[in-house]
Parts: sequence; C-alpha cells; structure tokens
Amino acid sequence: MNRSVITIDDLTNDEIDRLFNLADRYVSDLGEHPHSHRLLGKLDVAKGKIASTLFFEPSTRTKFSFEAAMFRLGGDILQTVDPRTNSSSKGESLADMVRVVQSYADLVILRHPREGAARVAAEYVDVPVINAGDGSHEHPTQTLCDLYTLRRERKSLTGLNVLLCGDLKNGRTVHSLVYALARFGARIVTAPAKGLELPPHVSDRLQSEYHCVALTSKDIALPDDVDMVFVPLRDEKIRGLPDNVDVLYVTPNQPHKLALIPDFNLSVHFDTVTTAVKEIDVIYGTRLQTERLAGNSGTGDYPVIDKAFLDKRGYTNAQVLHPLPRVKELGYDLDKDPRGAYFKQTAYGVPVRMALLAALLQIEPVLETRGSETHYFRNYSCDDGLMCSNERCISRDENEGKHLKPKFWIVNPAQQSFLPEMPLTVRCMYCEYDYKPSAIGRKSSRQYNVETSLWDQIESEDLVVFCDFAQAQHQGYNLVDPSVLTSARG
Ligand code: NCD
Repeated sequence: MNRSVITIDDLTNDEIDRLFNLADRYVSDLGEHPHSHRLLGKLDVAKGKIASTLFFEPSTRTKFSFEAAMFRLGGDILQTVDPRTNSSSKGESLADMVRVVQSYADLVILRHPREGAARVAAEYVDVPVINAGDGSHEHPTQTLCDLYTLRRERKSLTGLNVLLCGDLKNGRTVHSLVYALARFGARIVTAPAKGLELPPHVSDRLQSEYHCVALTSKDIALPDDVDMVFVPLRDEKIRGLPDNVDVLYVTPNQPHKLALIPDFNLSVHFDTVTTAVKEIDVIYGTRLQTERLAGNSGTGDYPVIDKAFLDKRGYTNAQVLHPLPRVKELGYDLDKDPRGAYFKQTAYGVPVRMALLAALLQIEPVLETRGSETHYFRNYSCDDGLMCSNERCISRDENEGKHLKPKFWIVNPAQQSFLPEMPLTVRCMYCEYDYKPSAIGRKSSRQYNVETSLWDQIESEDLVVFCDFAQAQHQGYNLVDPSVLTSARG
C-alpha cells in the first residue's frame, strides 16, 4: 500500500530517525560542498521514476529542493511553472487534476492555498502524495528539514528549549513543527507577534494529545513577549515521591485529559519552565504571513531576531532557524554569525527530501508497511448537517464542494464514569480544525437537542450533528428533552 505524507503525524519517530539516517548516507555517498552544503553528485536509484510538483502557491526552496532531490536520485520531474498554465484556471477541480497527473507521474508533491487540499489529493490517487504546504495547516517536509538541521547541529532533540517567534497563527511550518517537537521531547516557548498566537486548536491539541503541560503568565512569571510554555510530560520525572512507593494510583488533573497526570508534577514544571525560558537552545523565526491575513489583522509590533536581540536576552549559544523567505523579522547581521543556521537548513532540504522520495517510491525500505489506518477517534460523516467551520478548508471551496463530503473525527475521549460530560468536539478530517457543534439529533426519529455531550448515547449510524439548532429545525427535526432523545429510536 502506498504511503503519503500529509501531516507530520503520518510519520512515526522511528521512521523520521530512519529517514535522517538515510539522508546522512546520501550526504556521505555524494559529498557536500563545505560552504553551501550543496550535494556534489548524482545517483541512479530512481531511474525511470517521475515525480510531479503541482504548486498553486509561490515557492523557491520547497519546489527546487524537491526537484534537486529527484534529480540527484536519478529520477525525473514533471512540473507546473505557474498555476495559471494548468487547468485549474479553466475550473478543473483538484480531485480531477491529481487523477490526471497520477497517470503521468509516480508521486505527487502538492502545494495549495486551501487547508486540507493534500488530504483530498491523497484520497483520489493511489500514488504517494506529499504535502508541500496547504494554507495555514501544515508543512511536514519543512519540519523534517528543521529537525534534521537540529539533529546535525544539536545531536538530540530531547530536552531542547525552543523559542518560536512571529506569526504562529498562520505559519504552517510552525504547526507541523510544534507537534514534532512535543513528540521528540523538546520544550516549546512561544513568543508570537500580538494577535498571532498559536491557534487554540493547535495549543489545545498539544496538551490533550501530545501530553504537554502548558503554562502561561497566569501560572508563572514569563518575559513580556512569551505567552506560553509547553513542557512534554513524557520525559519529566515525577519528583517528590518517597523512595518506598511501589504503586502510584493517579487520576486525571483535567477532565479532558486522556493521560493520567499526577497533580504534584506541576511543581516540577515551575522549575523546568523557568530554566527553559532562560536557556533557549533554538530560536525559530517566521515571517508575517501577509497572504493569509484577513483585513487588518496584521501587527505593527513584530519580533525581530538579530544580534542585538540575542545579546540582550543572553542567548549566547542559541541556534537561529527560519524556514525562509525572510522579510524584516530576521537580521542580515546573523548571516555570518555561527548561530545563524537557516542557510544550512535550506541546503539540508535536499538530502532530507531525497530520503523521503526514496522511501515513498519504495526504493529504500525505510517506512513501515501499514494496512488501513486505525485511528482511536470515532468518525462522523453525514450528507446533511455539519460543514467545516474553517472558511479556508478545502471542503468549503465551491469547486471541490461539488464532490467532497465533509468528514469529521469525534475527538472527545470515550465517556467514562469518572469524567464529567463534555460538549461534543469534532475535527475536520481535511483541515483538522476543531469545532463544537451546538446540536445533535437522531436520524431515525428526526429529533434533536442542544445537549451535545449526549453524543455517545446515540448509535453511530443514527447520530446527526448540526452546526446549530436553526439548522436542525430547517431540516425538519423536532426539539425534544435530552431523555427522550437518548431513549427514542424511531
Ligand atoms: C514557508 C512556507 O511556504 O510555508 N516557506 C518554505 O517552504 N520554506 C514559510 C513562509 O513562506 O513563510
């Protein structure tokens, strides 16, 4: 079965490690220029294979490094130079276009302004799809370049303190990166430009699914520009326990947590957090994503990373990363400073992408063979009712809407007797936005109620979820008491 990489979670930590080992092998087999880190030769392992780069947004690094990677593997590239020259300008849907492209190429690399576009592409083709950036959602291969740079510069990710600056709301590179950092046990310190904080669905997910404890200035003194610190629990030791304890019985410290976390652990985090904020190992800058700002939501007060900033904060040994392009937020005075690692980061994109292409084209046995994906969330899809609340989602695109059916995960943990009831939360399967609908109903009896925490008392095939009660009424559903809704099967 072909594998695709749409989000960073499509690769396990072990697979990422193996990809990096393969990238190291390519570097040592081909050799690299000592200054620019450009690879020096060419292999022929992908001879006869074609990858296509289908880019609907501007790109220099991602597109060229994928193309260079394919050439250096000995394969070929089919590319669009300008989206206006492909049939999307004639109104062709993405679904149709990728089905056509898969009859010419063995792999599709897609960049698209709509969030969730790459997931749609992967649903329609049976060749591997690589997400090269879908709106503000994710950019998993940039994260691979970021992690590989850190591995080469810092050796281990575990315990690193990483400061993220700039547009954390719209920057897709940041969204893939934070999940990966949490998975590898790095601590994340966020210093967003005002109004451009991590979106709530990302910061909530870091806590509920990536087992991070999040502290804000309400919990602990933080520098003015830092709004949150995420500490992955995985590698934290539970201190303060007497030596003779054999068994520890713990309960959740917050109702929605799947992980059982003892409360006294928090005291550990105050120490860890204070140190994390002072001893930054890596600073990750991002530009203001002007193309994604609605109206006037820009900020005049944008953090600038330069020598003066590093000196003022005492970040003597911090490494500075940036996915590039830079605009005003990254000083040119760091280009020759040993702390500036961003040009290496772009060069490392080639061996990393060579490794990913070789893995997905099954030239190298790096990835596990997975059967149909098993997911621990229950899925929900229905012809009438809910649509994704994110206007930038591919499922809200007029053209794609003709063939796409909205699909969701129900992300509430299965109700357990000790958990209080929580309103239903659904996640769009394409753009991964979380949303709390405000009514649920039964298809069979055409009844509804606004008490959405009762969702798991209705059989999957009978459950219908509405954006709000007006939609339920509009579709001819009748309001009934919660007890009637949960008992009545039509
Ligand atoms: C990034 C992107 O396109 O998201 N660039 C890249 O791929 N290296 C970052 C950006 O455009 O700001």
